[in-house]
Amino acid sequence: FQVPTPVNEPILQYGANSAERSKLKQALSDLRNQQIDVQMRIAGRSVKGAKKVAMTCPHDHQHVLGHYYEGGKAEVAQAIDAALAARSAWASMPWEDRAAIFLKAADLSATKYRMQLNARTMLGQSKNAYQAEIDAACEWIDFLRFNVHYAQQIYSEQPISSPGVWNRLEYRPLEGFVYALTPFNFTAIAGNLPAAPALMGNTVVWKPSPTQVYSAGLLMEILEEAGLPAGVINLVLADGPEAGEVVFSHRDFAGIHFTGSTGVFQTIWKNIGQNIANYKSYPRIVGETGGKDFVIAHSSADAKALTTGLIRGAFEYQGQKCSAASRAYVPASLWPAVETQLKADLAAIKMGGTEDFENFVNAVIDAKAFAKITSYISEAKKSPEVSVISGGNFDDSKGYFVEPTVLLTTNPTYRTMVEEIFGPVLTIYVYNDADWKETLALVDSTSAYALTGAIFAQDKYAMLEAMKDLENAAGNLYLNDKCTGAVVGQQPFGGARASGTNDKAGSYLNLLRWVSPRTVKEVF
Ligand code: ALA
Repeated sequence: FQVPTPVNEPILQYGANSAERSKLKQALSDLRNQQIDVQMRIAGRSVKGAKKVAMTCPHDHQHVLGHYYEGGKAEVAQAIDAALAARSAWASMPWEDRAAIFLKAADLSATKYRMQLNARTMLGQSKNAYQAEIDAACEWIDFLRFNVHYAQQIYSEQPISSPGVWNRLEYRPLEGFVYALTPFNFTAIAGNLPAAPALMGNTVVWKPSPTQVYSAGLLMEILEEAGLPAGVINLVLADGPEAGEVVFSHRDFAGIHFTGSTGVFQTIWKNIGQNIANYKSYPRIVGETGGKDFVIAHSSADAKALTTGLIRGAFEYQGQKCSAASRAYVPASLWPAVETQLKADLAAIKMGGTEDFENFVNAVIDAKAFAKITSYISEAKKSPEVSVISGGNFDDSKGYFVEPTVLLTTNPTYRTMVEEIFGPVLTIYVYNDADWKETLALVDSTSAYALTGAIFAQDKYAMLEAMKDLENAAGNLYLNDKCTGAVVGQQPFGGARASGTNDKAGSYLNLLRWVSPRTVKEVF
């Protein structure tokens, strides 16, 4: 048995007058003209929670896209029961048959549902067409197909045997249920967090972010249309801490697959610790959390490549990628060229809604994010240690728009160099060329996080020096490239320190966390 060798899903470009663009425009206008209702899916049935919540469009916040219905503790408990009831049949299904369901979901997402997945991500999460395509279409499809490929590798990895003795490893799923708690910023990650453990035979309770329910509802429909049996993934819509009380106090809680903030992850870890004696097994804790991702340039760097890397790394999807560049260290000799280029390139960038295909920058996700991001900008404007190089304006009258903002600071530990903002704000510190080694130490020590980072240098010795000194500063390191845009199968993704457990989404390393192998020795 061989699964199809995966190749990355080709990226559609949606060029002007292309057939793809007209299809996507049609999908956008269809969605604009209807109201979508999203309900919980528990044991294969729709369950309507008591609290009706409007889903709105971040770049046009008076436009209601539809509603979802939030449940409470009772529904979370029901979802756990459904996952536990479905576990035995799902775990004993031949893995190839489980895989077929996810491969079919990938095909449905690549064809029948591609435009709708992108359109929901564009309207509900304010991604432009390209950002939606590389996420809700390509990355989601890649996760599904590559996971099957990696699962096959895992299942076929067996110990040695000898005449008269046959040793084998049975890759059992975890004993209990898995909880997937997922973020707004990538539709693909929201789908992968429940799908990866499910592929390995686990049953799952999935709670998406309130600001991603609009596309999560469609992911669930696709998985069910592909043949996912009732109860394997149960979609719950609930308040996070309330759901957590039920999940983390349950004896059969077997693991969490999380992407979100460092603070929430640490609270979850403490809750799990407090309940540790009550669980049947030690739960698997897999989390990808915050970042304060760096870009450091050596004096030998190509100024143009650096500037492009800074702009794309910091401002694509409004800086709301955990991988986004948010602090940069530029040598004084390069700064004049970089500054000029940054200003010119940013002046040409268009900001606005996602349905106009010309806009590079769209809105940030919601009022809370807008308030947080703009408070950093307002404070920076008043600081004697900071000057605004570009942007700095914001306006939430129609949508939550924040201009791509570049700050220059004389203080390498100024707040915006250290704290995660999760928005379109890049802070630059210009160092003396001679202080290269000291600056590397600064990059390493300034932040508690270690998710992504980029080094720009043409001098190979300088590059090697930086790689060594920054050995633990990033889980995904980019040389002469932007620090975002990891592709499944190409750059397994994840970081350490305060950025997560580094279990590399999009690789066999992640899938290994969702099995508890049994070793069997048989003597003939
Ligand atoms: N795949 C996303 C990125 O690397 C998280 O930007």
